Amino acid sequence: MSEAPVPAPETWRPSDTELFAAYGDAFVPRRREQISTVCDLLTDLPDSHVLDLCCGEGRLAEEYLRRRPEGRVTVLDGSPEMLDLAAERLAPFGDRHTRVRADIADREWREGAAYGGIMTSLAVHHLDGPGKRDLYRDLHAMLAPGGVFVMADLVEPTGPTARALAAAHWEQAVRHASREQFGGDEAAVSFETAGWNYYRLPGPDPYDKPSSLPDHLDWLREAGFIEVDVAWMYAGHAVFTAKRTP
Ligand SMILES: C[S@@+](CC[C@H](N)C(=O)[O-])C[C@H]1O[C@@H](n2cnc3c(N)ncnc32)[C@H](O)[C@@H]1O
Repeated sequence: MSEAPVPAPETWRPSDTELFAAYGDAFVPRRREQISTVCDLLTDLPDSHVLDLCCGEGRLAEEYLRRRPEGRVTVLDGSPEMLDLAAERLAPFGDRHTRVRADIADREWREGAAYGGIMTSLAVHHLDGPGKRDLYRDLHAMLAPGGVFVMADLVEPTGPTARALAAAHWEQAVRHASREQFGGDEAAVSFETAGWNYYRLPGPDPYDKPSSLPDHLDWLREAGFIEVDVAWMYAGHAVFTAKRTP
């Protein structure tokens, strides 16, 4: 595992890791569907080696490796605790994964790769607009020709009505998942107590900086991607797909 400076503590703390590891399946709306959609979009890749950027516990990597017996994944995250959880989860896949510890905002990890695909979930919103724009340019360069980038993330609604609806849908999804997974409101209460619903925050928020859907699409096209699209959206969470020209 390569080493890098720990991300600024104000961005992601060990307590966030603990909370997310315990309740992530309930906190992420329709999580199984999101994971499946991301992996559905990673087909016909020019190379089966993919990067899972800000991998967390390695949920995307796990599903990708399960589906692609010849696949390999590099999992990158800033949190050593998350990387340990990912290593545990991915242990059954043997040496088909490599760990990298890095801050998403840094440049070093963005060099010298030719991945067939890059996937990321619920992390790019920690970068501001210019940071996302630069990231998309760099990710485009890190893909082999014909490579695919898939991102699940929060998006910024452009008006208060859509924002209120995203907030309400997210709460409904968490309440439903909490009942299903915990037989009660345990996860829903933690979600509320932790102030996890970005769309209920007064904003602007220093840690979470989602951008609007049109901005993402513009920046991806500007970076050189083709077939830029949104394949799925619910409760303010969208799955984007974009391809490097073959
Ligand atoms: C909400 S979790 C999502 C994890 C995983 N992608 C998933 O969907 O299950 C956010 C992840 O981003 C990582 N993260 C947050 N800020 C980061 C940063 N500045 N650099 C690298 N990783 C970061 C956290 O450690 C955490 O694993």
